[in-house]
Amino acid sequence: MTRFIAILLAAASLSVVGMVTTIPAQQQPLPQHNPALYAVDPQPLTLDQCGQCHPVHFTDIRQQGGKHQFDCRECHTTFHAYNPRKNNFSAIMPDCTECHTLIHGDKHSQCLGCHSNPHAATKAPSLAVVISFCADCHTDQGAQLAEKPSLHTELSCDECHHSEHGLIPSCAECHQPHFSSQDFAGCIACHPAHQPLEIPFNPDIELQTCSGCHDDIFAKWQSTVSLHGQVSCAECHTAHKEIPDCRTCHGTPPAHSKTMLKKFPNCLDCHLDVHDLPTKN
Ligand code: HEC
Ligand code: HEC
Ligand code: HEC
Ligand code: HEC
Ligand code: HEC
Ligand code: HEC
Ligand code: HEC
Ligand code: HEC
Ligand code: HEC
Ligand code: HEC
Ligand code: HEC
Ligand code: HEC
Repeated sequence: MTRFIAILLAAASLSVVGMVTTIPAQQQPLPQHNPALYAVDPQPLTLDQCGQCHPVHFTDIRQQGGKHQFDCRECHTTFHAYNPRKNNFSAIMPDCTECHTLIHGDKHSQCLGCHSNPHAATKAPSLAVVISFCADCHTDQGAQLAEKPSLHTELSCDECHHSEHGLIPSCAECHQPHFSSQDFAGCIACHPAHQPLEIPFNPDIELQTCSGCHDDIFAKWQSTVSLHGQVSCAECHTAHKEIPDCRTCHGTPPAHSKTMLKKFPNCLDCHLDVHDLPTKN
């Protein structure tokens, strides 16, 4: 078999030699001497020309380059110098740290491992490659979750920040509101996402929330004619489950004798219901 191929090849090369000898030589006209052609100064390539031959890189930068929308040669100080025999590809490619510091710390020095396309700087690194390192870069959130333990501390970051890096989840994905018309945008006013039990009881909070769990008291307070109906729940209850002392606001009313108060030490013995004080009217 190999012998047969060898014979065929020999025959083929013979016939080529034959052709060369049999066809009359057709001399090309010699090129004309034309110094005028060299009377120009070649101009450096324009960015537009880079883009003509490298449309993908050009388009990537145009669409997702962000602040990297400057000339290619700011990064590619050397280009068209790749030589497979020298195996010099990495050596001639730009190094991010020529312009940037190790912005995320020494541990994350392999920039292209996450920023996989250097021509698309605004493209967020994929969630899969950053998943084990959230707290390296977001120390605050990790610390918040740890300092004030809640059931959110037991979730992993990506259970909430799922699908893509930077996604902010809505509370609605996992929770019901306290009352049917409650706006989910308002949840974080009372529940900071990473410390949901640090509920600030200040007078500005949305009081109808209380009705979700204390509907009887809320209804009573809303309809009372006493002046306590104008006092915010959170002005008296300055933290959840905290019970105020009447005297922090009223002191000892002058009209109340010491003897009387000694006999009835609890103000509510007479005033009965703080959320719906009996009044003269
Ligand atoms: C020639 C200098 C230079 C080089 C090299 C360079 N950058 Fe930049 N980069 C900049 C400048 C300038 C900005 C905008 C200023 C800033 O945010 O610091 C920027 C911004 C960025 C941004 C933010 C983009 C935006 O629009 O908000 C990312 C991400 C980034 N660079 C990543 C990289 C990575 C990864 C590399 C390596 C592949 C790299 N850079 C190489 C100069 C450079
Ligand atoms: C922010 C810096 C930066 C800018 C600006 C930039 N490049 Fe690059 N480019 C790189 C880096 C880094 C690599 C190496 C990528 C790698 O190692 O995989 C690269 C690789 C390349 C490559 C070879 C690898 C490939 O993907 O084919 C070409 C071609 C290229 N760039 C063309 C361009 C052109 C054309 C422009 C301008 C339109 C440009 N680059 C602008 C940083 C840059
Ligand atoms: C006439 C077409 C043409 C133009 C214009 C051109 N290139 Fe290239 N370039 C190529 C070809 C062909 C290759 C080799 C194949 C490849 O990598 O795409 C190459 C490779 C590259 C590479 C990777 C390999 C290396 O040796 O650097 C870079 C980086 C690069 N070009 C940058 C540029 C920049 C920057 C410009 C504009 C200043 C530019 N090119 C203009 C055709 C062109
Ligand atoms: C472990 C993955 C990872 C590595 C490695 C990494 N980055 Fe990033 N980088 C990110 C993520 C995630 C972001 C946020 C991107 C976003 O907000 O869309 C980011 C953002 C940036 C930004 C924008 C900063 C800002 O505040 O918006 C720059 C600049 C940047 N990286 C440069 C670099 C450089 C330079 C290197 C290498 C020294 C590098 N990165 C290595 C994951 C990484
Ligand atoms: C290599 C560093 C790095 C890693 C790893 C990283 N991030 Fe980021 N992340 C950034 C940078 C830089 C930004 C943009 C600047 C900022 O807002 O802090 C960002 C932005 C975000 C944002 C949006 C912030 C906003 O205000 O809109 C969220 C949410 C986020 N990261 C969550 C995560 C989670 C969850 C993980 C792990 C799955 C993670 N990040 C891993 C660096 C990183
Ligand atoms: C229970 C769901 C949940 C978990 C678990 C969670 N986050 Fe968040 N995260 C959120 C929500 C919701 C926001 C938006 C908060 C806001 O708008 O104030 C947020 C905001 C962020 C932001 C933007 C800046 C800020 O603080 O508002 C970063 C960064 C972030 N989270 C990182 C993390 C990291 C890192 C982890 C894990 C250590 C984590 N998150 C765990 C729900 C969660
Ligand atoms: C990805 C799902 C998810 C998201 C998004 C989420 N949570 Fe949760 N949250 C949970 C789980 C799971 C628990 C544990 C209790 C349960 O099953 O309801 C929890 C518990 C809580 C608790 C009780 C904490 C405790 O320790 O008792 C509060 C309050 C809370 N979430 C508020 C919020 C608010 C407000 C948001 C939006 C800022 C939010 N959550 C976003 C999953 C989530
Ligand atoms: C006005 C403040 C306030 C607002 C606004 C608020 N909450 Fe609450 N939330 C509370 C209080 C108080 C508790 C009870 C905490 C406790 O038992 O220690 C609570 C408890 C919870 C719990 C845990 C108990 C349960 O019912 O499972 C979840 C989950 C929760 N809230 C989700 C939400 C969501 C989702 C929103 C937005 C729609 C929201 N909260 C808005 C004050 C608020
Ligand atoms: C956070 C402050 C605060 C606390 C705590 C408080 N009150 Fe008051 N109370 C008020 C205010 C404000 C009024 C309106 C009249 C005023 O300015 O004195 C008022 C009015 C009253 C009145 C007159 C009612 C009317 O409608 O004419 C009585 C009686 C009263 N409080 C009793 C009590 C008793 C009893 C307690 C304890 C169980 C108590 N208060 C706790 C703030 C408070
Ligand atoms: C003027 C101050 C004041 C205001 C306003 C007020 N509370 Fe109270 N609240 C108290 C005091 C004092 C007690 C303790 C009563 C007792 O010892 O019987 C109490 C008790 C409670 C209790 C537990 C006792 C029970 O009866 O179950 C709940 C729940 C409560 N308040 C919720 C609310 C809600 C919700 C609001 C707003 C709708 C509100 N409070 C407004 C002062 C106030
Ligand atoms: C998610 C449900 C929920 C919401 C919303 C809620 N609470 Fe509560 N609250 C509870 C539970 C559960 C208790 C404990 C009841 C017990 O121990 O019997 C409680 C207890 C209290 C107590 C103390 C009761 C006592 O007997 O000492 C006060 C005061 C109180 N809540 C006020 C409020 C106020 C004010 C709001 C609105 C800002 C509110 N709560 C919103 C669930 C809630
Ligand atoms: C023995 C019954 C009794 C006790 C105990 C009692 N009060 Fe009164 N209080 C009254 C009566 C009666 C009035 C007058 C009611 C009216 O004018 O409608 C009154 C009026 C008030 C008023 C409104 C008029 C004013 O003087 O400012 C306040 C506020 C008040 N009491 C607070 C308190 C506080 C705080 C305590 C506990 C330290 C307390 N009371 C204990 C019976 C009592």
